[in-house]
Amino acid sequence: MMKEKVLILDFGSQFTQLIARRVRELNIYSEIIPYHKEVVIDNSVKAVILSGSPYSVMQEDALKVDLNQFVNKVPVLAVCYGAQYIAHALGGKVERSSKREYGKAILNKVKRDVFLNKVARTSQVWMSHGDTISKIPDGFEILAGTERIPVAVYKSQKGTFKKPVYGIQFHPEVTHSLDGALMLKNFLIDIAGCEASWTPNAFVEETVAALKTQIGTEKVLMALSGGVDSSVGAMLLHKAIGKNLYCFFVDNGLLRKNEYEEVLESYKGMGLNVTGVDAKALFYAALEGKTDPEDKRKAIGKAFIDVFEYESTQFKDVQWLGQGTIYPDVIESISIHGPSATIKSHHNVGGLPDKLKLKIIEPLRMLFKDEVRRVGRAMGVPDTILMRHPFPGPGLGIRILGEITPEKVRLLQDADAIYIEHLKKAGLYDKVWQAGTILLPVRSVGVMGDERTYENAVALRAVTSVDGMTAEWSRLPYDFLATVSNEIINNVRGINRVVYDISTKPPATIEWE
Ligand code: XMP
Repeated sequence: MMKEKVLILDFGSQFTQLIARRVRELNIYSEIIPYHKEVVIDNSVKAVILSGSPYSVMQEDALKVDLNQFVNKVPVLAVCYGAQYIAHALGGKVERSSKREYGKAILNKVKRDVFLNKVARTSQVWMSHGDTISKIPDGFEILAGTERIPVAVYKSQKGTFKKPVYGIQFHPEVTHSLDGALMLKNFLIDIAGCEASWTPNAFVEETVAALKTQIGTEKVLMALSGGVDSSVGAMLLHKAIGKNLYCFFVDNGLLRKNEYEEVLESYKGMGLNVTGVDAKALFYAALEGKTDPEDKRKAIGKAFIDVFEYESTQFKDVQWLGQGTIYPDVIESISIHGPSATIKSHHNVGGLPDKLKLKIIEPLRMLFKDEVRRVGRAMGVPDTILMRHPFPGPGLGIRILGEITPEKVRLLQDADAIYIEHLKKAGLYDKVWQAGTILLPVRSVGVMGDERTYENAVALRAVTSVDGMTAEWSRLPYDFLATVSNEIINNVRGINRVVYDISTKPPATIEWE
């Protein structure tokens, strides 16, 4: 069990995960729980934070929570909707603002309080709300306002509750609130008394000890993808159970050029017990004749499960299946606008656990992506793995539009290798979130020397993004694009045209299929 943690009650704000990350950046472990779940305050819980919400506390169907679960037990910080909710619930007054307040505001009439220690007298904060607290409940005091609203920060007076309750109308978690991180620190360390000892090394130590107890002398099977999550997850398991972790890495024939060899090599360098499985033929056979994107994804997913099932029979007495699941995949998100539709099916391991009848172990299920990288670094996982761009499970299978053949794979691998190599050389690889090359199902006319050509076209894609949910196309320099285009057309026989994808997500997606 964690020594100390902060619970964040989620009322559906788009920033809830950001609050959790800001708290963790202070080396304090935090967990998000949906507002309607029971809040259990045991000895490890040092504070509760209430998130914002797109709802209004005055709506009939406003999201409600029983404050008695945590008020009086631990210090409480209520953000935006949370602050309005507490004010409203305890007898204060919340009103519809005449204008929606959105964006920057400056604190004024700032009083002295631990919460505002070292905060600038006119600190910039970031607002996003339609309601305003016009009167705070009895037993509370105002600590700051802004030009437009009387209550930007309030707190319970000494003696009102056993533990202080703070409410703030702005979002401390966004960077536009310049002293937001400082206020969170003041609240968590000086008011709630957190120790702030949750570092990557502490996480490794605690997790390895917990995995040892949980797994004992049993054995774990894990498929590695070459990506950050499965690699770091495997390293944690390796530290805990050593040779009892069996890993394999599948060549599905849809990897990047030389990726299979290079990744296997780095896994061996990390001391992992890993078997390479050449399943190219099986995947190509499964894909033969398939042109519809969903059919291709399903075929790849099914082939993967077949390989996995076969491989699992090669290892005797395995009881566990290791997976690289991370926190954003497990947070129960509050669905304000209905469940987000599955736009594309992601079939990497779907259906596996049920079929294999193995217990699931997910060493990273409480970490955000950037934390996975930090933990990986603390264990010495090489940057070639930690800093890799995300790569989809179906690989080049969804970057070759239309039917997949081994020849098309080779063509795309060659073009893609040139693109990625130049991104690295130009120092651009780490600046974009993800990049890749797409083989288009068109041929076009060109001229090379005196000859007319009629060959394939590729598209280059590079995006900036935080989590892949939204993405902006990267503004790569023209000269850079010119070089890559020349290199590809001059060196990859079969390609005579290169285009650059300038679509944002939404409405486009990152991958073309
Ligand atoms: P889209 O194309 O949906 O991609 O904008 C968002 C992110 O997800 C990756 N992606 C996948 N990853 N299995 C995966 O593991 C998949 O089937 C899959 N499809 C897309 C994509 O590369 C991008 O990072």
